[in-house]
Amino acid sequence: MTTELGLPALRGGPSRDPDRPDDPRLVDGFGRVATDLRISLTDRCNLRCTYCMPAEGLDWMPRDEQLTDDELNRLIAVAVHRLGVEELRFTGGEPMLRKGLENVLSAASALEPRPDISLTTNGIGLARRAGALAAAGVNRLNVSLDTLRQDRFAEITRRDRLQDVLDGLAAARDAGLNPVKLNSVLLRGVNDDEAADMLEFALEHGYQLRFIEQMPLDAQHGWRRSEMITAGEIMERLEQRFTLAPSDEDRGGAPAEKFLVESRLDGTSISTAGGPAVVGVIASVTRPFCGACDRTRLTADGQMRTCLFATGETDLRAMVRGGATDAEIADTWRDAMWGKKAGHGIDDPGFLQPDRPMSAIGG
Ligand code: 5AD
Ligand code: SF4
Repeated sequence: MTTELGLPALRGGPSRDPDRPDDPRLVDGFGRVATDLRISLTDRCNLRCTYCMPAEGLDWMPRDEQLTDDELNRLIAVAVHRLGVEELRFTGGEPMLRKGLENVLSAASALEPRPDISLTTNGIGLARRAGALAAAGVNRLNVSLDTLRQDRFAEITRRDRLQDVLDGLAAARDAGLNPVKLNSVLLRGVNDDEAADMLEFALEHGYQLRFIEQMPLDAQHGWRRSEMITAGEIMERLEQRFTLAPSDEDRGGAPAEKFLVESRLDGTSISTAGGPAVVGVIASVTRPFCGACDRTRLTADGQMRTCLFATGETDLRAMVRGGATDAEIADTWRDAMWGKKAGHGIDDPGFLQPDRPMSAIGG
């Protein structure tokens, strides 16, 4: 086959950049290799966190636009078999709202080589489902928890469900989904006085706490950099009660900077309910880790994104529904990842928040 110019057609069609190396993996122009696939299973959620979406919720994605389980399983298999993806993280919205979640998990855990499988959830309903999730192949869980106070939980999430989440955490630990990680977003004047209490709670129960800087990904576009609690401020608040030391563990592509919790300023000793006494800080905004990023993303409607903050998407659903082969899908995915930008650009003067909010992209 030749092109109009009489040149041999490039494998993967006309979009293939001739500079892209002949590597089956998801390499980009900055030397990064994506081995971690984040999959948003649904854009729906049963909470309404103020920093994420409005009280009335959002216009949810129509069902026929969402990938079916079979379509999703196929794309995941392409990623693992052809593109060298080693880790799958299922997110939402709230991934437990996806019907057939366990089927998707079971299909993923039957792949060879077996990917590492984790789930990011808000914990509602987890008390009932932790065992089934573990049985379906989930290795680890990240649970969002921003406060330990019932009134504040209701204020932040607009639902009075703190106890469900606490019960879910305990069930996850008992189901062997360890370490259970807690994701916490601090909001100025709302819960930013709770950092040390949250760490105390995590140590006591053997959960691994990570604070995440708030990013400009809310549906309401209300994020203000000046309002955000920075990683520096988080450390200050923790150091009012604890002595922390940077962990020398290699971070790899992991976003969290880890600190060992060595002691309390009041001299009382640190004991944990298992695992090391550590706390993580994910400084996405003030200390971006884009240079070590190893992620590629898939939305519930089958759009591949190179980054949370990407302004464009690649329509893999159209390929699946249009009869493309696995090889063609894989090559389109490689092409798009080759064009991944160096960083999220939050600090660039022309920064534009992505069209979709976090709940539709996946955290
Ligand atoms: N910035 C940072 N973290 C966020 N999350 C949701 N929205 C934001 C945001 N704008 C968190 C959730 C959850 C994880 C997926 O991301 O609290 O823990
Ligand atoms: Fe739901 Fe997570 Fe958004 Fe809260 S932050 S409303 S739990 S998707």
